[in-house]
Amino acid sequence: MNNFHYFNPVKILFGKGQIAQLPKQIPADARIMLTYGGGSIFKNGVYDQVKLALTGREIVEFGGIEANPTYETLMKAVEIARTEKVDFLLSVGGGSVLDGTKFMAAAIPFTGADPWQIVANRAKITTAVPIGAVLTLPATGSEMNYYAVISKKETHEKKGMGNALVYPKFSILDPETTYSLPPRQIANGIADAFTHVMEQYMTYPVRAEMQDRMSEAVLLTLIEEGPKMMANPTDYDSVANVMWAATMALNGLLALGVPTDWATHQIGHELTAFHGIDHARTLAVVLPHLLEIKKESKREKLIQYAKRVWQLSGTDDELVAGAIQKTADFYESLGIPTKASAYSINADTIEKVVQRFVERGINFGEHADITPEVVGEILELSLA
Ligand code: NZQ
Ligand code: ZN
Repeated sequence: MNNFHYFNPVKILFGKGQIAQLPKQIPADARIMLTYGGGSIFKNGVYDQVKLALTGREIVEFGGIEANPTYETLMKAVEIARTEKVDFLLSVGGGSVLDGTKFMAAAIPFTGADPWQIVANRAKITTAVPIGAVLTLPATGSEMNYYAVISKKETHEKKGMGNALVYPKFSILDPETTYSLPPRQIANGIADAFTHVMEQYMTYPVRAEMQDRMSEAVLLTLIEEGPKMMANPTDYDSVANVMWAATMALNGLLALGVPTDWATHQIGHELTAFHGIDHARTLAVVLPHLLEIKKESKREKLIQYAKRVWQLSGTDDELVAGAIQKTADFYESLGIPTKASAYSINADTIEKVVQRFVERGINFGEHADITPEVVGEILELSLA
């Protein structure tokens, strides 16, 4: 097992009715900005619950944060927050609203000339506005981590930032707030969380038995409970299990002391940047093909995963092939295609994505061997 430091300050309030706890979590004299997306919170009653809980508080509202939140929209919110002297941000919605709010938290007090540099070049930030979250979509893990992924429309870029200053102070996870999710978003959430585990688990063994078994627990929970949530989106216990699994998938615990990959996400972000494809769907296009191309260096873990997660048996070669097939089948079972042709990705896209990796000048993957050429091979295979 590799060395690690672990710190996670996010307070989680989990379960039915927890939105009522909001007033105790936010300082009484705070000037709050409530951030939200395209309006789902008005239709499912979450907005009303939040407003009721915060009766009498000073609240400015900013809506319209889009899926794959854009710098352009967020900077409008930053301007308003500065003018209104907002000193607490409350994100109400899915991962996009929360990621956008994390960027705002860093950008509002930022004194540099170009706030995009916080994302593009990890410009130093020394302070951030405190954030709280009411999460309505189990998927990203953003509710318990310090990452945000922001897009810039102007240049078709999508990039991640990470800074401990933007950890939420608290996140409220009430499974009932997800009951209004359309099937596509439920499927996306399960697929995203599943892939987060794979990025931290499907590498090579370092005798980190706890972390491996925790990763397997999250995968098994998603495989068992995900289809139940798909079939019955208002089955509280299935939703609660998926919601907690999605949080556990990316709150830092699974990555402790182990190598991580993350190439699938890096390639996926470029597919969203160029084609606007939903985040989780890009991952389904990439991961099975990445596993096929990297099956020798990931062999030991693929065999372990085949046996422990999918309960397969057979020769080692059969286990490796079976593990990759089961992974693709799982995405497909959620209604998420794993072939590039389903998303209008073509040879021209591949060329542009490869060029992006050439420009970045760094390789990805646990062995830093996902070179631009390998990115091209993975995407070619996804087209086949
Ligand atoms: O905008 P509204 O109207 O709220 O509708 C949203 C949106 O259209 C809707 N929705 C959310 N909760 C709902 C609901 N509809 C009905 N009922 C509800 N309860 O769902 C749509 C998608 O929402 P979005 O927030 O975009 O989805 P998700 O939570 O999957 O977030 C995706 C974003 O997170 C980033 C992705 O790249 C993408 O930009 N990620 C963030 C990560 C992180 N911070 O750690 C890691 C991930 O790998 C990921 O990259
Ligand atoms: Zn993801």
